[in-house]
Amino acid sequence: MADTAQRDTDGQGVAGGVGVTALLVAAARAIETHRADSLAQDDYAEHFVRAAPASAGWPVRLGQVPDGDSDPLWGRFARYFGLRTRVLDDFLLDSLHTGGARQVVLLGAGLDARAFRLDWPPGCVLYEMDRQGVLAFKHQVLDALSAAPRTRRVPVPADLRADWAGALTDAGFDPSAPTVWLVEGLLFYLPSAAETHLIGAVDRLSARGSALAYEVKLDKDLLEHRDSPLYTATHQQLGIDLLDLFSLEPRPDSAAALAHKGWTTAVHSPFDFTRRHGRGPLPEPNDALGGNRWVFGARPRP
Ligand SMILES: C[S@@+](CC[C@H](N)C(=O)[O-])C[C@H]1O[C@@H](n2cnc3c(N)ncnc32)[C@H](O)[C@@H]1O
Repeated sequence: MADTAQRDTDGQGVAGGVGVTALLVAAARAIETHRADSLAQDDYAEHFVRAAPASAGWPVRLGQVPDGDSDPLWGRFARYFGLRTRVLDDFLLDSLHTGGARQVVLLGAGLDARAFRLDWPPGCVLYEMDRQGVLAFKHQVLDALSAAPRTRRVPVPADLRADWAGALTDAGFDPSAPTVWLVEGLLFYLPSAAETHLIGAVDRLSARGSALAYEVKLDKDLLEHRDSPLYTATHQQLGIDLLDLFSLEPRPDSAAALAHKGWTTAVHSPFDFTRRHGRGPLPEPNDALGGNRWVFGARPRP
Protein backbone atom coordinates (compact mmCIF):
# COMPACT_ATOMS: atom_id res chain seq x y z
CA MET A 1 0.00 0.00 0.00
CA ALA A 2 3.01 2.32 0.46
CA ASP A 3 3.15 4.97 -2.26
CA THR A 4 5.07 8.07 -3.06
CA ALA A 5 2.81 10.32 -0.94
CA GLN A 6 5.16 9.62 1.98
CA ARG A 7 8.85 9.13 1.36
CA ASP A 8 10.72 6.27 2.98
CA THR A 9 12.69 8.20 5.57
CA ASP A 10 12.34 5.75 8.46
CA GLY A 11 16.12 5.35 8.67
CA GLN A 12 16.23 8.99 9.79
CA GLY A 13 14.17 8.31 12.94
CA VAL A 14 13.18 11.75 14.23
CA ALA A 15 15.91 13.50 12.24
CA GLY A 16 13.82 14.11 9.14
CA GLY A 17 10.78 13.21 7.05
CA VAL A 18 7.55 12.61 8.99
CA GLY A 19 9.58 11.56 12.06
CA VAL A 20 10.62 15.13 12.79
CA THR A 21 6.97 16.11 13.24
CA ALA A 22 7.00 14.06 16.47
CA LEU A 23 9.61 16.51 17.80
CA LEU A 24 7.50 19.48 16.72
CA VAL A 25 4.56 18.22 18.80
CA ALA A 26 6.89 17.41 21.73
CA ALA A 27 8.26 20.98 21.69
CA ALA A 28 4.71 22.34 21.66
CA ARG A 29 3.81 20.13 24.64
CA ALA A 30 6.92 21.29 26.51
CA ILE A 31 5.87 24.93 25.98
CA GLU A 32 2.31 24.12 27.06
CA THR A 33 3.60 22.39 30.20
CA HIS A 34 5.40 25.53 31.35
CA ARG A 35 2.51 27.94 30.72
CA ALA A 36 0.85 29.46 33.77
CA ASP A 37 -2.53 28.59 32.21
CA SER A 38 -1.41 25.15 30.96
CA LEU A 39 -4.00 22.81 29.48
CA ALA A 40 -1.81 19.70 29.70
CA GLN A 41 1.33 18.64 31.52
CA ASP A 42 4.07 16.55 29.92
CA ASP A 43 7.39 16.62 31.77
CA TYR A 44 8.96 14.22 29.26
CA ALA A 45 8.40 16.42 26.19
CA GLU A 46 11.30 18.75 26.92
CA HIS A 47 13.72 15.81 27.24
CA PHE A 48 12.83 14.51 23.77
CA VAL A 49 13.37 17.95 22.25
CA ARG A 50 16.74 18.45 23.94
CA ALA A 51 17.99 14.95 23.06
CA ALA A 52 17.57 15.18 19.29
CA PRO A 53 20.15 17.18 17.29
CA ALA A 54 17.32 18.28 14.94
CA SER A 55 15.48 20.06 17.78
CA ALA A 56 18.11 20.72 20.49
CA GLY A 57 17.98 24.47 19.77
CA TRP A 58 14.18 24.78 19.68
CA PRO A 59 12.34 26.60 22.48
CA VAL A 60 10.71 24.61 25.27
CA ARG A 61 9.30 27.64 27.10
CA LEU A 62 7.36 30.56 25.67
CA GLY A 63 9.85 32.94 27.33
CA GLN A 64 12.51 31.65 24.90
CA VAL A 65 10.41 32.82 21.90
CA PRO A 66 11.18 36.46 21.03
CA ASP A 67 7.60 37.20 19.88
CA GLY A 68 5.99 35.03 22.57
CA ASP A 69 2.32 34.26 21.96
CA SER A 70 2.25 36.29 18.74
CA ASP A 71 4.66 33.83 17.09
CA PRO A 72 2.44 31.80 14.70
CA LEU A 73 4.46 28.62 15.34
CA TRP A 74 5.37 28.62 19.04
CA GLY A 75 2.34 30.72 20.04
CA ARG A 76 -0.84 29.71 18.20
CA PHE A 77 0.27 26.37 16.66
CA ALA A 78 1.87 25.15 19.90
CA ARG A 79 -1.32 26.07 21.77
CA TYR A 80 -3.26 24.00 19.24
CA PHE A 81 -1.17 20.95 20.17
CA GLY A 82 -1.61 21.70 23.87
CA LEU A 83 -5.39 21.83 23.43
CA ARG A 84 -5.39 18.63 21.36
CA THR A 85 -3.35 16.84 24.02
CA ARG A 86 -5.79 17.90 26.74
CA VAL A 87 -8.91 16.99 24.77
CA LEU A 88 -7.57 13.53 23.91
CA ASP A 89 -6.31 12.97 27.47
CA ASP A 90 -9.85 13.66 28.67
CA PHE A 91 -11.39 11.44 25.98
CA LEU A 92 -9.03 8.57 26.80
CA LEU A 93 -9.49 8.71 30.57
CA ASP A 94 -13.26 9.12 30.24
CA SER A 95 -13.46 6.13 27.86
CA LEU A 96 -11.47 4.00 30.32
CA HIS A 97 -13.32 5.08 33.45
CA THR A 98 -16.88 5.20 32.18
CA GLY A 99 -16.68 2.92 29.11
CA GLY A 100 -14.74 0.20 30.88
CA ALA A 101 -12.18 -0.56 28.12
CA ARG A 102 -8.75 -1.65 29.36
CA GLN A 103 -6.93 -1.86 26.03
CA VAL A 104 -5.59 1.25 24.26
CA VAL A 105 -3.86 1.67 20.89
CA LEU A 106 -2.01 4.82 19.79
CA LEU A 107 -1.60 4.83 16.01
CA GLY A 108 1.29 7.16 15.11
CA ALA A 109 2.25 7.39 18.80
CA GLY A 110 5.34 9.49 18.16
CA LEU A 111 6.72 10.88 21.44
CA ASP A 112 3.38 10.63 23.25
CA ALA A 113 4.13 10.05 26.96
CA ARG A 114 0.59 9.18 28.11
CA ALA A 115 1.85 5.82 29.40
CA PHE A 116 4.14 7.70 31.77
CA ARG A 117 2.10 10.72 32.80
CA LEU A 118 -1.59 9.76 33.05
CA ASP A 119 -3.36 8.22 36.02
CA TRP A 120 -4.36 4.83 34.58
CA PRO A 121 -6.98 2.53 36.05
CA PRO A 122 -5.57 -0.88 37.04
CA GLY A 123 -5.21 -3.60 34.42
CA CYS A 124 -4.73 -1.45 31.31
CA VAL A 125 -2.43 -2.21 28.40
CA LEU A 126 -1.27 0.44 25.93
CA TYR A 127 0.06 -0.42 22.46
CA GLU A 128 2.13 2.29 20.79
CA MET A 129 2.52 1.98 17.02
CA ASP A 130 4.91 4.14 15.01
CA ARG A 131 7.87 3.78 12.73
CA GLN A 132 10.77 1.78 14.12
CA GLY A 133 13.22 4.71 14.01
CA VAL A 134 10.90 6.98 16.01
CA LEU A 135 10.25 4.34 18.68
CA ALA A 136 14.01 3.61 18.95
CA PHE A 137 14.73 7.31 19.66
CA LYS A 138 11.88 7.43 22.19
CA HIS A 139 13.28 4.43 24.10
CA GLN A 140 16.77 5.87 24.11
CA VAL A 141 15.49 9.03 25.84
CA LEU A 142 13.13 7.25 28.25
CA ASP A 143 15.82 4.72 29.21
CA ALA A 144 18.27 7.54 29.95
CA LEU A 145 15.65 9.03 32.30
CA SER A 146 14.93 5.61 33.87
CA ALA A 147 11.28 6.44 33.17
CA ALA A 148 8.77 3.86 34.42
CA PRO A 149 5.39 3.55 32.67
CA ARG A 150 2.29 3.81 34.88
CA THR A 151 0.55 1.06 32.92
CA ARG A 152 1.65 -1.90 30.81
CA ARG A 153 3.11 -0.51 27.61
CA VAL A 154 3.87 -2.43 24.42
CA PRO A 155 5.68 -0.62 21.58
CA VAL A 156 4.86 -2.05 18.14
CA PRO A 157 7.03 -0.80 15.26
CA ALA A 158 5.10 -0.69 11.99
CA ASP A 159 4.60 1.27 8.81
CA LEU A 160 0.96 2.32 9.10
CA ARG A 161 0.66 2.65 5.33
CA ALA A 162 0.94 -1.13 5.13
CA ASP A 163 -1.01 -3.97 6.74
CA TRP A 164 -0.27 -3.41 10.43
CA ALA A 165 -3.03 -5.46 12.11
CA GLY A 166 -0.90 -8.64 12.23
CA ALA A 167 1.92 -6.84 14.05
CA LEU A 168 -0.59 -5.59 16.64
CA THR A 169 -2.21 -8.97 17.29
CA ASP A 170 1.23 -10.65 17.35
CA ALA A 171 2.15 -8.17 20.12
CA GLY A 172 -0.78 -9.44 22.24
CA PHE A 173 -3.67 -7.16 21.22
CA ASP A 174 -7.03 -8.87 21.84
CA PRO A 175 -9.70 -8.03 19.22
CA SER A 176 -12.42 -9.52 21.43
CA ALA A 177 -11.87 -6.89 24.16
CA PRO A 178 -13.09 -3.27 23.84
CA THR A 179 -10.35 -0.86 22.79
CA VAL A 180 -9.76 2.89 22.90
CA TRP A 181 -7.96 4.06 19.75
CA LEU A 182 -6.20 7.43 19.40
CA VAL A 183 -5.06 8.56 15.95
CA GLU A 184 -3.58 11.96 16.76
CA GLY A 185 -1.80 13.92 14.06
CA LEU A 186 -1.32 10.97 11.71
CA LEU A 187 -3.92 10.62 8.97
CA PHE A 188 -2.99 13.62 6.82
CA TYR A 189 0.52 12.17 6.36
CA LEU A 190 -0.90 8.94 4.92
CA PRO A 191 -2.08 8.32 1.36
CA SER A 192 -5.84 8.35 1.08
CA ALA A 193 -6.01 4.56 0.49
CA ALA A 194 -3.97 3.98 3.65
CA GLU A 195 -6.48 6.03 5.69
CA THR A 196 -9.35 3.97 4.29
CA HIS A 197 -7.44 0.78 5.09
CA LEU A 198 -6.56 2.00 8.61
CA ILE A 199 -10.14 2.95 9.49
CA GLY A 200 -11.34 -0.40 8.11
CA ALA A 201 -8.79 -2.24 10.26
CA VAL A 202 -9.80 -0.26 13.37
CA ASP A 203 -13.41 -1.24 12.70
CA ARG A 204 -12.57 -4.93 12.23
CA LEU A 205 -10.42 -5.02 15.38
CA SER A 206 -12.94 -3.17 17.58
CA ALA A 207 -15.17 -5.19 19.88
CA ARG A 208 -18.42 -3.57 20.98
CA GLY A 209 -17.76 -0.93 23.64
CA SER A 210 -14.72 0.40 21.73
CA ALA A 211 -14.06 4.10 21.20
CA LEU A 212 -11.95 6.05 18.72
CA ALA A 213 -10.70 9.61 18.35
CA TYR A 214 -8.82 10.87 15.29
CA GLU A 215 -7.85 14.07 13.57
CA VAL A 216 -8.40 14.99 9.92
CA LYS A 217 -8.11 17.97 7.62
CA LEU A 218 -11.26 18.61 5.61
CA ASP A 219 -9.74 21.28 3.32
CA LYS A 220 -10.44 20.52 -0.35
CA ASP A 221 -7.05 21.97 -1.28
CA LEU A 222 -4.37 22.14 1.43
CA LEU A 223 -2.16 24.27 -0.82
CA GLU A 224 -4.69 27.09 -0.57
CA HIS A 225 -3.06 27.98 2.77
CA ARG A 226 0.55 27.57 1.64
CA ASP A 227 1.30 31.22 2.49
CA SER A 228 -0.51 31.11 5.84
CA PRO A 229 1.40 32.40 8.88
CA LEU A 230 1.44 28.88 10.36
CA TYR A 231 3.00 27.04 7.41
CA THR A 232 5.33 29.94 6.63
CA ALA A 233 6.64 30.18 10.20
CA THR A 234 7.15 26.40 10.48
CA HIS A 235 9.11 26.39 7.22
CA GLN A 236 11.17 29.49 7.95
CA GLN A 237 11.97 28.79 11.60
CA LEU A 238 12.44 25.00 11.50
CA GLY A 239 12.98 24.17 7.84
CA ILE A 240 9.92 21.87 8.01
CA ASP A 241 7.58 22.17 5.03
CA LEU A 242 4.46 20.50 6.41
CA LEU A 243 2.73 20.65 3.04
CA ASP A 244 5.56 18.62 1.58
CA LEU A 245 4.95 15.95 4.24
CA PHE A 246 1.15 15.87 4.00
CA SER A 247 -0.59 13.72 1.41
CA LEU A 248 -2.29 16.11 -0.98
CA GLU A 249 -4.71 13.48 -2.31
CA PRO A 250 -8.48 13.96 -1.84
CA ARG A 251 -9.41 12.44 1.53
CA PRO A 252 -11.94 9.70 2.24
CA ASP A 253 -14.95 10.46 4.45
CA SER A 254 -13.89 8.20 7.31
CA ALA A 255 -16.60 9.43 9.69
CA ALA A 256 -19.26 8.41 7.14
CA ALA A 257 -17.55 5.02 6.66
CA LEU A 258 -17.64 4.40 10.41
CA ALA A 259 -21.27 5.52 10.71
CA HIS A 260 -22.10 3.09 7.89
CA LYS A 261 -20.57 0.29 9.98
CA GLY A 262 -22.71 1.17 13.00
CA TRP A 263 -20.42 3.54 14.92
CA THR A 264 -21.82 6.72 16.43
CA THR A 265 -19.64 9.67 15.47
CA ALA A 266 -19.31 13.32 16.46
CA VAL A 267 -17.22 15.74 14.39
CA HIS A 268 -15.88 18.85 16.14
CA SER A 269 -13.83 21.84 15.16
CA PRO A 270 -10.90 22.32 17.58
CA PHE A 271 -12.24 25.84 18.11
CA ASP A 272 -15.25 24.27 19.91
CA PHE A 273 -12.81 23.13 22.61
CA THR A 274 -11.01 26.48 22.71
CA ARG A 275 -14.35 28.01 23.64
CA ARG A 276 -15.07 25.24 26.15
CA HIS A 277 -11.71 25.63 27.93
CA GLY A 278 -11.42 29.39 27.47
CA ARG A 279 -7.91 28.86 26.05
CA GLY A 280 -6.51 27.82 22.66
CA PRO A 281 -6.56 28.95 19.03
CA LEU A 282 -9.53 30.73 17.48
CA PRO A 283 -10.27 31.12 13.73
CA GLU A 284 -8.19 33.62 11.78
CA PRO A 285 -7.91 34.64 8.10
CA ASN A 286 -5.90 32.32 5.83
CA ASP A 287 -6.10 29.70 8.57
CA ALA A 288 -4.15 26.46 8.11
CA LEU A 289 -6.10 25.03 11.07
CA GLY A 290 -9.55 26.03 9.77
CA GLY A 291 -10.22 22.66 8.07
CA ASN A 292 -9.03 20.55 11.01
CA ARG A 293 -11.62 18.35 12.68
CA TRP A 294 -11.45 16.05 15.68
CA VAL A 295 -13.72 13.05 15.24
CA PHE A 296 -14.96 10.96 18.16
CA GLY A 297 -16.51 7.55 17.53
CA ALA A 298 -18.05 4.84 19.64
CA ARG A 299 -19.09 1.31 18.77
CA PRO A 300 -22.05 0.83 21.09
CA ARG A 301 -22.54 -2.30 23.16
CA PRO A 302 -25.59 -4.37 22.12
C1 LIG B 1 2.78 14.78 14.16
S1 LIG B 1 3.45 13.32 14.84
C2 LIG B 1 2.22 12.95 16.06
C3 LIG B 1 2.74 12.03 17.12
C4 LIG B 1 1.79 11.82 18.31
N1 LIG B 1 0.55 11.21 17.94
C5 LIG B 1 1.56 13.11 19.03
O1 LIG B 1 0.49 13.71 18.84
O2 LIG B 1 2.46 13.55 19.74
C6 LIG B 1 3.09 12.14 13.56
C7 LIG B 1 3.60 10.76 13.87
O3 LIG B 1 3.10 9.87 12.87
C8 LIG B 1 4.11 8.96 12.57
N2 LIG B 1 3.89 8.40 11.24
C9 LIG B 1 3.72 9.08 10.09
N3 LIG B 1 3.61 8.23 9.06
C10 LIG B 1 3.70 6.98 9.58
C11 LIG B 1 3.67 5.68 9.03
N4 LIG B 1 3.53 5.49 7.72
N5 LIG B 1 3.79 4.63 9.84
C12 LIG B 1 3.94 4.80 11.19
N6 LIG B 1 3.98 6.01 11.77
C13 LIG B 1 3.87 7.09 10.97
C14 LIG B 1 5.40 9.76 12.63
O4 LIG B 1 6.53 8.94 12.76
C15 LIG B 1 5.13 10.65 13.83
O5 LIG B 1 5.58 10.06 15.01
